[in-house]
Amino acid sequence: MLFSDAPRRVMINEVSVRDGFQSEPEFIPTEAKIRLIDRLSQTGLAKIEVTSFVSPKAIPNLRDAQEVMQGIRRDPGVVYAALVPNERGAERALECRVDEINLVMSVGETHNVANMRMTQDMSLAQFRRVMALAEGTATHVNGCAATAFGCPFEGDQPVQKVMDVVARYLEMGMHSITLADTTGMASPRQVGELCREFFRRYPQVPLTLHFHNTRGMGLANVIAGLEAGADSFDASLGGIGGCPFAPGATGNICTEDMVHMLECCGVDTGIDLDLLLGIARDLPAVVGHEVPGQIIRAGKVGDLHAKPLTET
Ligand code: COA
Ligand code: ZN
Repeated sequence: MLFSDAPRRVMINEVSVRDGFQSEPEFIPTEAKIRLIDRLSQTGLAKIEVTSFVSPKAIPNLRDAQEVMQGIRRDPGVVYAALVPNERGAERALECRVDEINLVMSVGETHNVANMRMTQDMSLAQFRRVMALAEGTATHVNGCAATAFGCPFEGDQPVQKVMDVVARYLEMGMHSITLADTTGMASPRQVGELCREFFRRYPQVPLTLHFHNTRGMGLANVIAGLEAGADSFDASLGGIGGCPFAPGATGNICTEDMVHMLECCGVDTGIDLDLLLGIARDLPAVVGHEVPGQIIRAGKVGDLHAKPLTET
């Protein structure tokens, strides 16, 4: 179990510049995106999901995907990923030589149609074409099963249905899997059960967990995932994020709050927390509003206050 074992190492994938920026109403200038990603690249993050190669009409804030991908300074120690919904997106992503394409389809058909304007069969047909395009390139393909812990329209998704999506992805040759809780419906016990089932079936397949903190269960879900053997987590600086095509969607789990929690638990993230906190403090100025992250307000547990002056 987590708290009796020696500290473990986890990988953290930063998604603020994709999941976070996709729902921002004001366009974030390309230069500001590039500056932020270049700073994030210096913090020890394993991966950064830089942008989405989607329709600019669907997600206007990420219409500069190519400029951003080509404008950033790529650190060889960081994997630079991008979300892709279809063949057109994969062509654009491959032109920019992304390290990883993240193909997304929802486990619940209703959300897939709302989000991607495609049935699951249409998405899977697109993904087969993407696999053919990516074959022989250095680009890795991750398959993301969105709404894996519950669909905002259909409710709970049976474990078998989630595993069927995973099986389809792996049959096509995708290299790794993300199970995503698109609208914060996951609870810790469910996370443990789904992760254990995944690892029972696919002990060799790299798994990433993607949580939103919509109902305050985000970091508890991380602990449940860790205890079940997961070692890779998506998170968003400042806790921004959310799918614009899911009612009531709110931010991802907050990267700096998660790193702080993991450090307190003796789990190694490889991240320079102070450097990350400095970037998180600048985020409200980039997006033009306050962000939900808590450590930027409260400080780390070790940041003590001056003792009150007492009358003697
Ligand atoms: N990149 C850029 N443009 C794209 C594109 C892509 N990956 N895919 C389609 N387009 C363009 C088409 O060229 C077409 O342009 P036009 O109107 O100028 O001719 C337009 O978008 C519509 O194309 P179509 O194939 O009919 O797509 P659609 O309207 O059925 O939308 C998606 C399908 C998948 C492209 C769209 O729903 C989408 O981008 N969704 C992403 C949603 C998202 O990112 N959600 C949050 C993340 S979970
Ligand atoms: Zn998300």
